[in-house]
Amino acid sequence: MKRYRIGVVPGDGIGPEVTAAALFVLDAAERAFGFKTDREGFPWSGAHYLATGELMTERDLEHLRTLDAILFGALGHPDVPRGLLERNVILGLRFGLDLYVNLRPVRLYAERLTPLKGKRPQDIDMLVIRENTEDVYAQAGGLVHAGTPNEVAIAEMVFTRAGVERVIRYGFERALERRGKLTLVDKSNAIAAQEIWRRVFDDLASDYPDVERDAMYVDAASMWFVTHPERFDVVVTTNLFGDILTDLGAALCGGLGVAASGNIHPGKVSMFEPIHGSAPKYAGKGVASPVGAIGAMAMLLRHVGEREAGDAIEDAIARLLSDGTIPGVEAGAGGTMEVAKHVADAVGTRREEAARR
Ligand code: IPM
Ligand code: MG
Repeated sequence: MKRYRIGVVPGDGIGPEVTAAALFVLDAAERAFGFKTDREGFPWSGAHYLATGELMTERDLEHLRTLDAILFGALGHPDVPRGLLERNVILGLRFGLDLYVNLRPVRLYAERLTPLKGKRPQDIDMLVIRENTEDVYAQAGGLVHAGTPNEVAIAEMVFTRAGVERVIRYGFERALERRGKLTLVDKSNAIAAQEIWRRVFDDLASDYPDVERDAMYVDAASMWFVTHPERFDVVVTTNLFGDILTDLGAALCGGLGVAASGNIHPGKVSMFEPIHGSAPKYAGKGVASPVGAIGAMAMLLRHVGEREAGDAIEDAIARLLSDGTIPGVEAGAGGTMEVAKHVADAVGTRREEAARR
């Protein structure tokens, strides 16, 4: 039987609850599809930091590199200085493990979930690929004379030829598996350095003659996302623009509660997380929707090679959201585990149906 070693970082706020829900679904998937996971928990969180002063270290990263994948809950605590944990853990994992693809599906599971009038699931089904190791997130720059009237703050956008090329190539590859269209989103009219994105996009085109290409500026893209989401199949963009566009994309699909993402280095240990934050206000009440975390689990399983199990989980989410069995945005009182049970049941049943055919 296949075995996978999974690191689990539940984090803060609603993170532990939605993570437990995702692991419950994982149990069902293991039974249904005949594989096993060995799970190792890691404590990094705001609460842990306040209690111990501990952050993620280089040695921790060394250990994580030996695992198959990491499931991440949510991070953020009101009493911890802004950005400290985000930069140490989230960006620490993305940069430390060189997870250069941030894969963010923007998929509408049920018409009732979108705020857009008249848009159906077939109209909103795109895959946003956000570059994940460069841009302003590389932290090139800093503060001079901080806190004085002469203060200067500089943040540089960093783009390397190798970094841009590998993520655009990934975009072309995904487009080949889907509807065959790749859209580049940048701001190369105003930011001259972003011209590199256009050139690499053009240079790689000859390797992918079957992919239809489109390119647009990020301001226009944010408009098109809302007015004509059906125009997009696979979208590739910079780190910062991808951050912003995918919150917009999540809103089109029913909010942050349902959106999942993968921080991926193909062939290496990668990290999967719901897009939402720790939502301290809702913590401990069992009301947070685990759909994003369960979706992240589905992506994790596909990454390690359990494609069938990953697809079964995503199909279950889609079906249960569209027939109204699970609510989507909020799980409702005591609902986090209820939702997980419904998905787990559906995953088990689907496997039985397949076996009977
Ligand atoms: C995300 C988040 C992070 C980001 C924050 C928490 C650093 O917004 O994953 O989209 O900006 O990448
Ligand atoms: Mg974000």
